[in-house]
Amino acid sequence: MIRSAVRGTGAALPRRIMKNADFEGMVETSDEWIAQRTGIRQRHIAADDETTASLGEAAARVALADAGLTPDDIDLIVLATSTPNNTFPATAVEIQNRLGMQHGFAFDMQAVCSGFVYAVTTADLYIRGGLAKRVLVIGSETFSRILDWSDRSTCVLFGDGAGAVVLEAGEGAGTIADRGVLAASLRSDGAHKEKLFVDGGPSTTGTVGHLRMEGREVFKHAVGMITDVIETTFSAAGITADDLDWFVPHQANKRIIDASAKKLGIAEQKVVVTVDLHGNTSAASVPLALSVAVADGRIKKGDLVLLEAMGGGFTWGAVLVRW
Ligand code: ACO
Repeated sequence: MIRSAVRGTGAALPRRIMKNADFEGMVETSDEWIAQRTGIRQRHIAADDETTASLGEAAARVALADAGLTPDDIDLIVLATSTPNNTFPATAVEIQNRLGMQHGFAFDMQAVCSGFVYAVTTADLYIRGGLAKRVLVIGSETFSRILDWSDRSTCVLFGDGAGAVVLEAGEGAGTIADRGVLAASLRSDGAHKEKLFVDGGPSTTGTVGHLRMEGREVFKHAVGMITDVIETTFSAAGITADDLDWFVPHQANKRIIDASAKKLGIAEQKVVVTVDLHGNTSAASVPLALSVAVADGRIKKGDLVLLEAMGGGFTWGAVLVRW
């Protein structure tokens, strides 16, 4: 059977780093509060010339170089983002143009923090359906542009950045020993919209709007939803937590990551954590964490890797990949 194997990874971060202490003169907060409640110590914030498209392009170029490929080899770009450069066209199409691609197709995917997990699942189906052989899957965000910088309960949590992977069609035997995407489970439930949303949009206010979040409410649902979708993925693949080599969760809050891993019985040393360095970069958080763990040699060819995310909508999902 056809499998979608990871051939390359890449990341790109804005030049400017903002430390927790940098908020202390802006809103009533402290480095200690932010670090204790979230695990975040710093985040990258985009300058005017750094956009979702430019960061996405930069991450894509690194992933292509890592794969030993050029834009000519790519059939499809799927960009996960909630902070596109424009309402339309899709920022994926802008990235396609920036890469000099005059063939193939590209589109954006909107599932907020779950965007990358949704995008990998979608790309896998395009590959297995025969519509594409090589797909660039990118998560790129500039959440700093939609934050209310006077709201201490949200502005300290998010950061900007981009990560990318190249997925390539390969032959598999149909077992979990195959390289590539092995199982996935996606969920959404629009009943939770008011707990995490942006209070603007083209069809309502005609403005971009700002992120609004009832953090405590999101937290309350997060662990249950995350573990539920992971257990579904485990049973689809016929594995248990012990079979995993690496758990690469959405990087929103260290306490959510720790509680989810504990409930699932995933050993602490198998969990990739980058929330301290990047904050919550929404759809970019999983591919950014992946590229860190690949670059430092933790994730290696043949490893069994579980990706997971949960975010606005609510949306949530998990993907199991043999690296
Ligand atoms: N500095 C200091 N105090 C603060 C800050 C801050 N930056 N922010 C809030 N507080 C205060 C609150 O006002 C509150 O004060 P009060 O008790 O006087 O009312 C107190 O701290 C406690 O607030 P809580 O909201 O109960 O704090 P909690 O421990 O829940 O932590 C947090 C807040 C970090 C937001 C947590 O709820 C969380 O991580 N939630 C989940 C967020 C998440 O996972 N999002 C993922 C999806 S993101 C996406 O999809 C885009």
